[in-house]
Amino acid sequence: MTRRLVTRFTERFALEHPVALAPMDKVAGGALAGAVASAGGLGLIGGGYGDAGWLEQAFAAAGNAAVGVGFITWSALRKPAVVSAALARKPKALMVSFGDAEPLVAEAHAAGVPVLWQVQTLAQARQALAAKAEAIVVQGQEAGGHGMDRGLVALLPAVRDLAGPAQVLLAAGGLADGRGLAAALMLGADGILMGTRFWASREASGSDVAKAALLAREGDQTVRSKVFDVARGADWPWHYTGRVVRNAFLDRWHDDIEALKADAAAQRARYDAAPPDDLDTRVLIAGEALDLIHDLPPAATIIERTVEQAHALLSGAPRWTRS
Ligand SMILES: Cc1cc2nc3c(=O)[nH]c(=O)nc-3n(C[C@H](O)[C@H](O)[C@H](O)COP(=O)(O)O)c2cc1C
Repeated sequence: MTRRLVTRFTERFALEHPVALAPMDKVAGGALAGAVASAGGLGLIGGGYGDAGWLEQAFAAAGNAAVGVGFITWSALRKPAVVSAALARKPKALMVSFGDAEPLVAEAHAAGVPVLWQVQTLAQARQALAAKAEAIVVQGQEAGGHGMDRGLVALLPAVRDLAGPAQVLLAAGGLADGRGLAAALMLGADGILMGTRFWASREASGSDVAKAALLAREGDQTVRSKVFDVARGADWPWHYTGRVVRNAFLDRWHDDIEALKADAAAQRARYDAAPPDDLDTRVLIAGEALDLIHDLPPAATIIERTVEQAHALLSGAPRWTRS
């Protein structure tokens, strides 16, 4: 049995382990969220932009596991019925990211559902604190997917200083093993939220081709970019970029974004016409943690290894061991 690391996060959210699954749009379906929950972590379904049909299937696939759900705030605010339907299922938690989520927090609290609010800056952390989010997820720019510019190592302890000792904080971005968990705890977190690591797992929703590509790429090949938001017609506020794996489509437009915008309709058609596994064109979302990922294990194994390694490091094991 995996040793336990008890933190404010495990206590307040009634978890075995201080590890959460990032609510990755379409990747974190019911099978993955359910597997993380069954292994003692916090499993969050990736509600993303708010696709009602997909969400229904994901909750069904999670079965009886107590899972939560996450939404992209600015999109969810345009789809209140989808959020209300998700809250009516009494999820274990609601996670919100990217925008002023105060109305979503109020609705979740009225439904008795605790909230995790993912932030990228100190100013956003102040908003999350004012809204009384039960947990703040501090996301560094290393993260896969959307985010902003600040690195985790200075931002995390700064949010701890701001929030005081009682607030539950999670760290996200570039964390993929027990070294990351131990370091995050030292920097002031009560647990970690991992995306890229769980993307490369057996239960993640995604093709074998995409998962094989995750193993073949390195963090150096990722970059924060606007290219795929423009190409996919996603209405992201301009200050958010998305960390993705570079490919031929990105390389053509990354330094020429105004030209891409000017030709958006044609390029979007080209993007949409590409087969799902054409990774020269299609986006592969992943973060710098790709450097640390070499296999596609079950989610339970990821949690077990991460907690065991962090436990050993925190107990004084040699610090140079590889995961
Ligand atoms: C494939 C993928 C999809 C993501 N989709 C979402 C999303 O829909 N909503 C969200 O809040 N965060 C999303 N994220 C970001 C995560 O919430 C989290 O911040 C990030 O995965 C942490 O960094 P890591 O990937 O290095 O673990 C996504 C990340 C990845 C890798």
